[in-house]
Amino acid sequence: MQTELANTINDETIEKLVRTFYPMVLEDTLVGPFFVEKLGDDINSEVWEEHLVLISQFWAFVALGDERYNGRPMAPHFEIEGISRKAFEQWLKLFYEAIDKVYIPRSGEFFKLKSTDIASNFMRNLGI
Ligand code: HEM
Repeated sequence: MQTELANTINDETIEKLVRTFYPMVLEDTLVGPFFVEKLGDDINSEVWEEHLVLISQFWAFVALGDERYNGRPMAPHFEIEGISRKAFEQWLKLFYEAIDKVYIPRSGEFFKLKSTDIASNFMRNLGI
């Protein structure tokens, strides 16, 4: 059964987006291994739970100006060996798919634009 798509960007729908996206990431043969390497393969573990909460806060900061997130979004990506432009493109493809599962197009568009923008910045900084 198809659940109703959200039109409102708030904590609840952001969390839904994050919890829709990362299981897809873990199953992906190109992007998944980078996450397994750092966080393990059990999405229900404490380490993963921390990551999901952190990422939800990151998007709440980007979308809503919420101030709970005060991490350094770029930093961990410098530590990921073998990270590539191809991997970023696949990350974005999966993120777009997750967005379309959660939001109506008008609201999802915001996340598509932002994620594309941030990914470009990351790649530029990583020199890939
Ligand atoms: C191929 C692409 C990507 C890979 C493989 C990747 C992988 C990872 C991994 C493994 C971590 C956890 C690091 C750790 O806890 O030790 C992480 C953290 C994070 N990622 Fe990514 N990532 C990718 C792209 C992106 C993009 C495009 C965004 C944003 C649009 C993003 C946002 C973040 C944020 C906010 C964190 C948390 C940073 C902090 O510690 O505050 N990532 N990423």
